[in-house]
Amino acid sequence: MVVDTIRTIKLLGKWSANRAMGRKRPLVAVFSLTHYCNYYCPMCPFGDADKEGQLRLARKSDLSTDQWKQVFEKVSKYCVWSIIEGGEPTSRPDFMELVKYLYGLKMPITLITNCSLLHTLDLDELKKYIQFVTCSIDSVYEQPYCKVRGVPATMFTRVMDNLRLLTEHRVPHYFNSVITKFNTSEFIDQTYFDRALELGANAVSFTFVEDRADVNYSLLPDRQTMVKVCESILDYARKHTSPQIMIPPEYFEQIIQHGRGLFDECGVWKSIFVNGNGTVMVPCWKFNNPENTYNLLDCSVDEIWNAPQWDIARSCHDCEVLGCIWYSSQPISTFAKNYMRGLSKVIGQHKPELAGTI
Ligand SMILES: C[S@@+](CC[C@H](N)C(=O)[O-])C[C@H]1O[C@@H](n2cnc3c(N)ncnc32)[C@H](O)[C@@H]1O
Repeated sequence: MVVDTIRTIKLLGKWSANRAMGRKRPLVAVFSLTHYCNYYCPMCPFGDADKEGQLRLARKSDLSTDQWKQVFEKVSKYCVWSIIEGGEPTSRPDFMELVKYLYGLKMPITLITNCSLLHTLDLDELKKYIQFVTCSIDSVYEQPYCKVRGVPATMFTRVMDNLRLLTEHRVPHYFNSVITKFNTSEFIDQTYFDRALELGANAVSFTFVEDRADVNYSLLPDRQTMVKVCESILDYARKHTSPQIMIPPEYFEQIIQHGRGLFDECGVWKSIFVNGNGTVMVPCWKFNNPENTYNLLDCSVDEIWNAPQWDIARSCHDCEVLGCIWYSSQPISTFAKNYMRGLSKVIGQHKPELAGTI
């Protein structure tokens, strides 16, 4: 799918005009298509062990196909990009219909998936509608993968097969890894990168795990190990252009120096995160109570973005290492530098003599 540049420029103009008037509005949409997930990840609220109960809840409260279409229409008037996730989004029987609909609204799409159900989809059709598949590959080795994801070895094999299918069908994809205490060694010895390349990913993205508040365990590695992981990723990025590391070096540098990412004001308001039942929590999932919950079927985006609870995000620094929050909270100069770095790499691959001029 080709990004509609005119649409993007128009929406960016509208967003900037709002900013100039002191109004915050979303620019990226995250659609959590369903509450159901077939995985058991201990770091994730969707990793619930009671799959029967989770399915019942999803059947009862997930938006219907038509309701999602309504939500897509509302949100596409603001956002330049969309991210489809869940739960496991590919578990919805109407998954392709929904993706096709969003594509029809000219919304570029990134699909985040655990990849376990990709063999059930028509990948040639999928690649017509989406920009990228983000493959949640926390580990490239069976044992740590199964531990972080709470699944048997057969599932690891299935996922590896499905990654080959993505390559065979030329579906653009990259890997994302959530770094927990179970999967640090492949980053320290740098084998994750080589294996990612072998598995067809020429870009990789990382975040340290954000510990859940509703459980009594922590999955974050100790500080010393986190530093080793960060130093090793930075070292790899300095010496290799491929796979491209999609998170700017500042994220890892700040974690080495301060044990957490730094930002002035949380940028969570730049994204609209729509839950499986159509609700949006203001300012985010951490403030999950009825007073902070709005439903997009009943409210407009403007109404929700004028809610008083957004003030909480001005001073909230609760997310210490969550990469997406860190990224959306960075000054514009960090984006610009990273963008130029990416551009320089792309040019460098095609015209090495020009790469240094960017
Ligand atoms: C909630 S999942 C939903 C999509 C899909 N089921 C998957 O596994 O990719 C979206 C992403 O959030 C990540 N994630 C889940 N819990 C997390 C946590 N506590 N900290 C950081 N990332 C987390 C997952 O690894 C995945 O890449």
